[in-house]
Amino acid sequence: MQSGNPYITFSHVTKTFGAFKALDDVSLQIPRGAFVTLLGPSGCGKTTLLRLLSGFSEPDAGEIFVDGHSVNNLPPYRRGTPLVFQDYALFPHMTLYENISYGLRIKGMRKQDIDRRVAEMLELFNLRGMELRFPKQLSGGQQQRVAIARALVLEKEVLLLDEPLSNLDAKLRVDVRNELRQIQKKLGITVIYVTHDQDEALSMSDLIAVMQAGKIRQAGTPWQIYFRPDNRFVADFVGTVNLIDAVVVSTEKGTITVDWNGQKLIFHHAAADLRIGQAVELMVRPECFSIHPIHENVSPDSEDLTGEVTFFSFLGRFIRYFVRVHEKTLIIDDSNPGLDGAIEGRVKVSIDRDKVHILGEKELRTS
Ligand SMILES: Nc1ncnc2c1ncn2[C@@H]1O[C@H](COP(=O)(O)OP(=O)(O)OP(=O)(O)O)[C@@H](O)[C@H]1O
Ligand SMILES: [Mg+2]
Repeated sequence: MQSGNPYITFSHVTKTFGAFKALDDVSLQIPRGAFVTLLGPSGCGKTTLLRLLSGFSEPDAGEIFVDGHSVNNLPPYRRGTPLVFQDYALFPHMTLYENISYGLRIKGMRKQDIDRRVAEMLELFNLRGMELRFPKQLSGGQQQRVAIARALVLEKEVLLLDEPLSNLDAKLRVDVRNELRQIQKKLGITVIYVTHDQDEALSMSDLIAVMQAGKIRQAGTPWQIYFRPDNRFVADFVGTVNLIDAVVVSTEKGTITVDWNGQKLIFHHAAADLRIGQAVELMVRPECFSIHPIHENVSPDSEDLTGEVTFFSFLGRFIRYFVRVHEKTLIIDDSNPGLDGAIEGRVKVSIDRDKVHILGEKELRTS
């Protein structure tokens, strides 16, 4: 991924369908060679944004730039931004070989070069031996891989993929997404990838743009999105999260003390935008807690959080606990379960204080 000028820029892009705003003043900058994911719930405008970039639809307002040039009003074939559609749109009357080689044949490439490039794609996507099959003779997952191969074989600098792995089973999905990421890095192409799968977004992306109802709610690295979400929507949409209502009671250099139901908690925080008496939400991921059994003859310190395990589920590599603390049920993951079973009864709960994120008024208002 190179720094410098953005390669693709959406500048204040708005798209309406009748009275409905599918995209509302969307701005996003994408560096050359980046793997960027548009992540958001169904209907938030992900496909619409890709269609505008690839030229299948025009914005009502705003401008789109590729490599410094406005592409508004350019037809799709002059944009160099091939789109692999959500429903993959293979040519039904063409074989797998003919589908993948279609773009190269149009360009007039020599047969032996076409054969070589198609063979590379078949190898890459585990499709060897299926060259003569028609799309209806392929499984959904195979068709999806053909659709990606058909776009990738063109060796454009940009590839737009709209939920390209949705028809693969879980294991194949992980394999193909890792392969895709490696291919993207090797070729240095810029990929914009649409998904509503948060694991996929976190594991593949250089940059994630989280969308909701036609707006980008936050664009950032997977780390920023996961640990430092800008608002409650992003916090809640990406991963599992505990949101705890608290009030600021004091701020000092680098630390902040908050009150949660009469209990004081101290965190490291550059508290520039927080003032005493202000309501905040503490955002804590399940893996940022740890729990310890309380034995009958030990009374916990007043500074410790204590609670009661109400339920747990054993998931092999971790145990997910539901622990009642101050009349709230916290979700707590223990990533190193012991051989003897789960912890039950009364427990002490500790927080990895560096990983607590505090959402102040501004973020709550815009949630
Ligand atoms: N041609 C159209 N006419 C009217 N409304 C449309 C049209 N295309 C999209 N929409 C609406 O715009 C909104 C955004 O649609 P879009 O296809 O971009 O969503 P999406 O984020 O890709 O969702 P999904 O994850 O379900 O694919 C939706 O509410 C959709 O119904
Ligand atoms: Mg879509």
